[in-house]
Amino acid sequence: MAKIFLHSFHLLLLLLFLATHHSDQLQPSQIFSLLQIQQLLNHPPALTVFKDSTDFCSIESTPSFTLACYEDNITQLHMFGNDGDLPLPQNFSTDTFFEALGCLSSLKVLSLVSLGLRGPLPRSIGSISSLEILNISRNYFNGDIPVQLSSLRNLQTVILDNNEFTGKVPEWLISLPVLAVLSVKNNSLGGFLPNSVTVLQNLRVLALSKNNFSGEVPDLRNLTNLQVLDLEDNYFGPHFPALPTKLVSLVLRKNKFGFGIPAELGHCYQLQKLDISLNEFVGPFLPSLLSLPSINYIDISKNKFTGMLLQNMSCNAELVFVNLSSNLLTGELPSCLHLDSKSSAVVYDKNCLSNEAQEQNPSIFCHHEALAVKIPAHEQNHTRPVAKTVLASSTAGAIVGGMAIAGVVFLVIRRANRKASVKTSPTRSITERVSPVNTAKLLSDARYISETMKLGASLPAYRTYALEELKEATKNFEASSLIGETSIGQIYKGKLSDGSLIAIRSLKMRKRRSLQIYMHRIELISRLRHCHLVSALGHCFECYQDDSSVCRIFLIFEFIPNGTLRDYISGLTGHKFTWIQRIAAAIGVVKGIQFLHTGIVPGLYSNNLKITDISFDHNLHAKIRTYNLPLLAENKGTVGGGSSPGPKGSKSEGVKHEDKDDVYDIGVILLEIILGRSIMFHNEVGVLKDLVQVSITTDDIARRSIVDPAVHKECSGESLKTVMEICVRCLSSKPADRPSVGDVLWNLQFAAQIQDSLRGDAQNNED
Ligand SMILES: *[C@@H]1O[C@H](CO)[C@@H](O)[C@H](O)[C@H]1NC(C)=O
Ligand SMILES: *[C@@H]1O[C@H](CO)[C@@H](O)[C@H](O)[C@H]1NC(C)=O
Ligand SMILES: *[C@@H]1O[C@H](CO)[C@@H](O)[C@H](O)[C@H]1NC(C)=O
Ligand SMILES: *[C@@H]1O[C@H](CO)[C@@H](O)[C@H](O)[C@H]1NC(C)=O
Ligand SMILES: *[C@@H]1O[C@H](CO)[C@@H](O)[C@H](O)[C@H]1NC(C)=O
Ligand SMILES: *[C@@H]1O[C@H](CO)[C@@H](O)[C@H](O)[C@H]1NC(C)=O
Ligand SMILES: *[C@@H]1O[C@H](CO)[C@@H](O)[C@H](O)[C@H]1NC(C)=O
Ligand SMILES: *[C@@H]1O[C@H](CO)[C@@H](O)[C@H](O)[C@H]1NC(C)=O
Ligand SMILES: *[C@@H]1O[C@H](CO)[C@@H](O)[C@H](O)[C@H]1NC(C)=O
Repeated sequence: MAKIFLHSFHLLLLLLFLATHHSDQLQPSQIFSLLQIQQLLNHPPALTVFKDSTDFCSIESTPSFTLACYEDNITQLHMFGNDGDLPLPQNFSTDTFFEALGCLSSLKVLSLVSLGLRGPLPRSIGSISSLEILNISRNYFNGDIPVQLSSLRNLQTVILDNNEFTGKVPEWLISLPVLAVLSVKNNSLGGFLPNSVTVLQNLRVLALSKNNFSGEVPDLRNLTNLQVLDLEDNYFGPHFPALPTKLVSLVLRKNKFGFGIPAELGHCYQLQKLDISLNEFVGPFLPSLLSLPSINYIDISKNKFTGMLLQNMSCNAELVFVNLSSNLLTGELPSCLHLDSKSSAVVYDKNCLSNEAQEQNPSIFCHHEALAVKIPAHEQNHTRPVAKTVLASSTAGAIVGGMAIAGVVFLVIRRANRKASVKTSPTRSITERVSPVNTAKLLSDARYISETMKLGASLPAYRTYALEELKEATKNFEASSLIGETSIGQIYKGKLSDGSLIAIRSLKMRKRRSLQIYMHRIELISRLRHCHLVSALGHCFECYQDDSSVCRIFLIFEFIPNGTLRDYISGLTGHKFTWIQRIAAAIGVVKGIQFLHTGIVPGLYSNNLKITDISFDHNLHAKIRTYNLPLLAENKGTVGGGSSPGPKGSKSEGVKHEDKDDVYDIGVILLEIILGRSIMFHNEVGVLKDLVQVSITTDDIARRSIVDPAVHKECSGESLKTVMEICVRCLSSKPADRPSVGDVLWNLQFAAQIQDSLRGDAQNNED
């Protein structure tokens, strides 16, 4: 009996080994889909790389075809048919094509650009359930946008530009909770923009240009993440839309907008591009717009803006394009607009400015025209927060108002925080322009997309926080909010106004450096999102007022309250992890490390992983709390991290083994998981490792005698041995002898599987 059991157990092992070890092989259904796609396209030359035996995932990408895989699934498919590389055969069927795509069940990115696809967008698009990014621009799709898209709950980006879609922007948009980019430029969509668009909290880009939309734009102030709003060439209007303040680009060109522009526009401190040309705007122009801190492009041409410009007005030095043409402006062109650089343009003809080089009307013209502008009576007490400045006569008033607004731009911050060290210069907080996360860049990184998705939609979008917001969340950085302190700064716990908890790392910068220096680090930090990392939610800069160099950076992270891995092994939390829970935790840690090494570019190595830095969320998923944050290492003065020479010793071996420091640290964690005793000093590791190594070669009973008594009965012999072996290899003194992160992961998953299957067997035997 026992013999039979043993025999079948080995068979099981073998099967498991075969099933898991060929993990880079695509699933057969996905291979079949690819071959079917190739056949539907009638074997175009661009796809000759496909052969039955090809390892599809390593196909070299070409301009017309790119395929990306993650683990054993196809995650991205890009086809680009611009130069007739992928000509559609006569008997091509769009429906069949999408049905084949529907079998790629893990597809996250699908772009089918300029392929000449025709007819309605097939409903079977709804079966690619993991789709996150869809780009079908430059085809001939027509008809309504199919409702089946609404079942793709992970959709983040939808680009339908340059097609022939008709109908309305559907109300069901509301059911795409993580939608961040919606672009339907140059179609024949019409009607009103539905109010439901205002619930899309994650929306960053809304581009509706060159359609037939009409009516008032809904109140968009709740779309706090909106950065790009492009409504060009529609029939929107007449009221200026109510907008959120984080806009980076606002294009209302060629619509039916009238009345005045609201003073609130002067609060869009991140605005870089403003195009409100070719409308029917009236009332005073706000000269403060010229000096918005981020502005570089302004077009207000072909409206009826009034007001007197003064020579001494200020404007942002970054301005490269200004078109004031065809308005009713009087006075003198501000001298800051005499841009002489070849790369910039200032157009101001057809106004009533004095003594200027470009063609002007006589001032009496502007005067008459301005008086002729009438505000329809029924609109005079409109309750929306717009058109406040509608006034067709006063000119000076607008300019004074503009100055006042400019004064608010730089907010002087008084430090109320006693804990902070005495400062030499006054500081201010600024909300810098965060480069909108570049979708094309996202596309280039398959892993990033897949890994991000593993988060689900649970994390809010990465954003800039205002210092005021952080102060409110921490009761002004009160001592009771302080939860940790290190040599380089403090960690606070905070509660945002929406009730969510955050952890705030305050980093005091030792060197005075400008904001730009830090921007690419911040961009990297913004990509550190993974279900096994305590992820970054945003940041906030505080700057010296005298030279705008950065004085302090606040990094905002999710707050993970539960205990550490050590607590769960020792039982300090009241809950002692079982063997399988321990392996699961270790797998989580290794996946987190794998993401840090390979999921972002450049990878983060030498994370100085400690068992006390592993936390758990409500579902007991392991999360790595501290890792080699680029800013931290730098501020400590040890650029590149990996400061401790210790036993890890990858330094002497050169950069080849940069990933092996972390593998060593994983080994130490495994040691503690196996033995169940806290390892406080590095010199203990060697002795304990030897102990484990010796026990591997002995019998099962001897092996179990050194294991944590809390789990030594439940763990399967084979599972224990696998973990012990990988642990010892991780702790090899030569970095080159240590296994790769992927190898560690595979072994741990194997150990989990045997443990699991054994438990299954045991249960079956009891029946
Ligand atoms: C690959 O796809 C299968 C089936 O769709 C899924 O069960 C599996 O989790 C996927 N693997 C990864 C790594 O996404
Ligand atoms: C389309 O026509 C080609 C020959 O021109 C043929 O080889 C192919 O099988 C046809 N495809 C379909 C889907 O009918
Ligand atoms: C708009 O789309 C049509 C095809 O639907 C195309 O011919 C035209 O060039 C596009 N216009 C722009 C400005 O891209
Ligand atoms: C645009 O919408 C109007 C109604 O708002 C309609 O009369 C007109 O035919 C539409 N034009 C196009 C090109 O769809
Ligand atoms: C904006 O959000 C707030 C709170 O969620 C809500 O009360 C308000 O009605 C929303 N406003 C609009 C215009 O949707
Ligand atoms: C400025 O605006 C006018 C009116 O819209 C337009 O005719 C002109 O081409 C614009 N100038 C530039 C340089 O874009
Ligand atoms: C700009 O010049 C006007 C007179 O030309 C003057 O009244 C005003 O105070 C000046 N403003 C500044 C900021 O110098
Ligand atoms: C303007 O407001 C007054 C009272 O404040 C109200 O009686 C009147 O109806 C309003 N006009 C319009 C067009 O709403
Ligand atoms: C979608 O395709 C168009 C056409 O190639 C391209 O210009 C655009 O960048 C793509 N958008 C994304 C988000 O990939």
